Amino acid sequence: MSELKYLDKKGTFTLDNPDLTSYMYFPLANEAGMMSAITPDLGGDIKLDQNTFLLEPVSSENLHNNKSTRNFWVYVDGKGAWSATGRSAKQQAKLFDDDKEQVKLTAGIMWHKVERQTDEMGLKAELTTFVPYTQDKVELTKVTITNTADTTQKITSTVAIPMYARSASNIRDHRHVTSLLHRTFTIKDGIMIYPTLTFDERGHNKNTVFYGALAKEMVNGKMESPVSFCPVTEEFIGEGGNFENPYYVAKNKPLPYTEGQEVDGYETVAAIRFNDCELKPGESRSYVIALEYGTSKEELESIGNKYIDVDVFDKYLEETKNYWQDKINVSYNSADKNFDNWMHWVNFQPMLRRIYGCSFLPHHDYGKGGRGWRDLWQDCLALLIMEPKQVRQMLIDNFGGVRFDGTNATIIGSKQGEFIADRNNITRVWMDHGAWPYLTTELYMQQTGDVEFLVEENSYFKDPQVCRGEEKDMIWNDEQGNKQLAENNEVYAGTVLEHMLIQHLTAFYDVGEHNHIRLRGADWNDGLDMAAKRGESVAFTALYGGNLKNLAKDIKAYAEKTGNETVLLAKELLILLNVDKTVFDRIDEKKQVLDAYCETVKHTISGEKVNVRCDELCSIIDSMGDWIGEHIRTTEWTTDKDGDGWFNGYYDNSGNAVEGDFPTGIRMMLTGQVFTVMADVATDEQVVAIAKSADKYLYDEAIGGYRLNTDFKEVKTDLGRLFGFAFGHKENGAVFSHMATMYANSLYHRGYAKEGYKVINSLFKHCDNYSKSGIYPGIPEYVSQRGRGMYHYLTGAASWMLLTVLNEMYGVKGEYGALKLKPQLLKEQFENGKASATCMFNGKNITVTYKNDKALDAGQYSVKEIYIDGNKYGDCDTVLKEDVMKLNDTVNIVAILD
Ligand code: G1P
Repeated sequence: MSELKYLDKKGTFTLDNPDLTSYMYFPLANEAGMMSAITPDLGGDIKLDQNTFLLEPVSSENLHNNKSTRNFWVYVDGKGAWSATGRSAKQQAKLFDDDKEQVKLTAGIMWHKVERQTDEMGLKAELTTFVPYTQDKVELTKVTITNTADTTQKITSTVAIPMYARSASNIRDHRHVTSLLHRTFTIKDGIMIYPTLTFDERGHNKNTVFYGALAKEMVNGKMESPVSFCPVTEEFIGEGGNFENPYYVAKNKPLPYTEGQEVDGYETVAAIRFNDCELKPGESRSYVIALEYGTSKEELESIGNKYIDVDVFDKYLEETKNYWQDKINVSYNSADKNFDNWMHWVNFQPMLRRIYGCSFLPHHDYGKGGRGWRDLWQDCLALLIMEPKQVRQMLIDNFGGVRFDGTNATIIGSKQGEFIADRNNITRVWMDHGAWPYLTTELYMQQTGDVEFLVEENSYFKDPQVCRGEEKDMIWNDEQGNKQLAENNEVYAGTVLEHMLIQHLTAFYDVGEHNHIRLRGADWNDGLDMAAKRGESVAFTALYGGNLKNLAKDIKAYAEKTGNETVLLAKELLILLNVDKTVFDRIDEKKQVLDAYCETVKHTISGEKVNVRCDELCSIIDSMGDWIGEHIRTTEWTTDKDGDGWFNGYYDNSGNAVEGDFPTGIRMMLTGQVFTVMADVATDEQVVAIAKSADKYLYDEAIGGYRLNTDFKEVKTDLGRLFGFAFGHKENGAVFSHMATMYANSLYHRGYAKEGYKVINSLFKHCDNYSKSGIYPGIPEYVSQRGRGMYHYLTGAASWMLLTVLNEMYGVKGEYGALKLKPQLLKEQFENGKASATCMFNGKNITVTYKNDKALDAGQYSVKEIYIDGNKYGDCDTVLKEDVMKLNDTVNIVAILD
């Protein structure tokens, strides 16, 4: 395998022979809903959603199984057929030979170019693909064929792209019958399908989507239409033929259809033939292909007319590159240029996840699209840094998904703030869900200083699921809608603070046999799904505890800033607040408190609100946080034979502690360490011990660093399905980037910069080593046992990496709206004594450059002086909020480290 090289500071890279790595795919998309995946041989697919795939949906295994791609055939007179995408039987047969065709990939954010050269045929092809950033639903490819032979060659060019034009569910469900729905037309520049009906889980409906594949060639500076077509797959490939050796190409016969014909009821291929042409040595010919969606034939044609032009293609390509680059407004300059470039891709990934969700690239986590609750809040973290303007309302709207029992809706609609009741009545409560909204809200308040946000109001979600998934509200009916009603039948609205309090207080009392919060359906680790009865997550109990303590600080900040001594809360919350502290130790009584509350809010709520004093509220929730910390510290520390310790993070369905020194070996999980460190539950000595134990039991350099767990050597059916996965894969002990990154975050948060850097650097170095990771730049969801990056691009890890590098490693962070500079960069990260980060902060585009003239290491320095645009601001490490507001729109800040 060859090396991947960056060509600039904006993530553009080049790579030789990408076709010698399997499972490679690249995202091309726009905000109009186009979602493409493209492979080095132009395989992959195109869709708008689960039900509207233009190219047949591909999972990772289809990438090598499928014979079809966005193929472009060139028949050379006297020599035979050649695929510009490398997908011919002949080219495939030579893939492993020393004289295989040379293939080179160059790609940047949202564009992809493959060059392929064949000496035998005397041809070179360059295929550039992108999705314009506009509101049009179209993917464009420009193909340029050059004659590299020293004689004139006569060529015949044919586009051959199978069009699927239906729902992903039809892969198994009615695959053939849905082809009978196809009404397929040859139009002037290509093939159009207008299926009569759609068959999918929504039933049988009249179709409204037109699918098109249009193409033209440039002849003497003018775009010319194709000459013949074949829309019928079985006809085009010929009896016994296939997409790597299609009959009409192999025999170089004119295609059997011309413009204006209709042929219905078959699997469709956009086979589009151009006039034969003669290319002199060195001469080229270019073609532009558009794969599009429309609502009419006219729309398909007008999109075609707009884009199918070589010059227009080039113009939109440049504009698209700029469009996405402008959106990535966070960048770094450090001693490691590859890291800076890699981070550029990581910064971009949250945008990809917002577009693709978790389901629409060839490795897919969820089935049919949509995003989960966790993702919703996680993606907001990155948004807060990159596009903060839209986030305030988005956060408020998202709180509308919280139920009055502290759980939340799990089906998230496509509109902001839209939550849908689960018609299948699947009761599943993820116990971690209540903790994430606070983290995002906290980041928002710290970045902006907008603590008044706490008293913004929204409604609550309501469906039959009540009592944290244990009961059903039998008198709730569809007519009552999906919002919590008060007794007077009006929609009840409460503050953001109230929503977060409900999430945390209900969790606080929802404990199992060891007085930790019950695991229920699972926590962050979706694979811990078989311990609903007796399972407990110590890991997330720690996070809830830390959140409670931080929320107390926020309430205090709110009271101080606004002068308001009280906040208004639903009367029912008093059941959870006015509880004697001695109850915290008593599991049964805790359960009674929770039951009493849940019973009261089961159907409607009173609608009455009470004034609660901020100082009293702070003291109550702070003491709950303290209680959790103390309880975990005193009961969950476990050690190996050498005395090296870590926290037990879970109890299983048999009621046993999951981690420790077992006869089968050490059982340690990373999650319990991450949140005890992050939530300040672990003492400094414990942080040091945890880091040591993690190095001893979880670290594996060959796969990018810290595994999620050790090998339990048991299919633990009393804990979760993940133990059924082979060890080292996905949730069972892979290096799971999201948790690894949160581990780094927690270490930096506690001031352990070297340890935090080790986590990030091992992961980065692994990803950066293309021959090991087998992925394009960016952070994958996890690294497999053999080192391959898996589920690339769509992972919550990206948001956390962005946050960790900017806020912790570079220490550019908000403190209730003030700009605090608290870098923890290691000595080796400075280049000539300098390292800088550029980002948006409170609407200002700031570049912070740290000067480390004495070459000090993290921990030895702090920010001693700040200069803004060359003028000294002060001997301090913080730019006050009122001064931040006065900064120019773009500003250079120099911070002196000493
Ligand atoms: C995925 C899921 C996430 C879940 C995690 C662990 O992680 O999307 O919700 O918490 O697996 O089971 P991601 O793809 O975000 O890295």
